Amino acid sequence: MGDALNQKENQEQTFRTIEISVFRYNPYSKHSKPRFETYSLSETPSMTLYIALSKIWATMDHHVSFDFVCRAGICGSCAMVINGKPRLACKTRTEEFLDGKITLMPLPTFKHIKDLQVDTGSWMNAMSQKVESWIHTKEKTDISKIEKRVEPDVAQAVFELDRCIECGICLASCSTRIMRESFIGAVGLSRVARFAIDPHDERTDADYYELVGDDDGIFGCMSLMGCEDHCPKELPLQTKIAYMRRKLVSQAIKS
Ligand code: SF4
Ligand code: FES
Repeated sequence: MGDALNQKENQEQTFRTIEISVFRYNPYSKHSKPRFETYSLSETPSMTLYIALSKIWATMDHHVSFDFVCRAGICGSCAMVINGKPRLACKTRTEEFLDGKITLMPLPTFKHIKDLQVDTGSWMNAMSQKVESWIHTKEKTDISKIEKRVEPDVAQAVFELDRCIECGICLASCSTRIMRESFIGAVGLSRVARFAIDPHDERTDADYYELVGDDDGIFGCMSLMGCEDHCPKELPLQTKIAYMRRKLVSQAIKS
């Protein structure tokens, strides 16, 4: 009985070895050449790619660069291309990959910093400025007054789009964006939809048309659905892009 228990315990402690190939390149060093570095490590139960990369960094290679902040799918900083698909590394378990081989690359379309790190922040900031990502109203804000009432279904629709974590995965999944750098993608268009739905914002369809009524905006989307297929927050991106397109098409006819 004791032997059987020991045997079971030993079996449970035997973890498979996985291989993680990481894209390595420092565009700021003239000595650096793009390459893959492969690390073998022992998989632990429920291991995420965040845990695996931290283990590689702590025990094998202190120079490998990657970004993480929240480790809980909230900050969006750990987005990378995992076996060909853009995903959040902190929400991806190694056990999903049955052959134990995982390849990690940085997100395309953003400025590459080093290895798996890209600069999504500067792009998101520029996009927010471009679409004027703030409430436009002539009303003076009086914080001593109770906020204007908003219908629950409208508030829910705004809240739904506010769940975007600016991870950049929708852009990395978008063929239009990969072909045309100036396209603001699903994250930009759903941001515009968020304000168009919000009754606090007084902008008209003509105002939105001025902002995004071209091929870099609402008419650039080819509805290939890559954004919605990969968005880790499962936002209704295509529905909201279609909503904005319907609103702005009448402005296109007028102009
Ligand atoms: S829309 Fe989705 S995929 Fe795109 S940045 Fe926001 S959370 Fe990420
Ligand atoms: S570390 Fe924040 S989303 Fe992955």
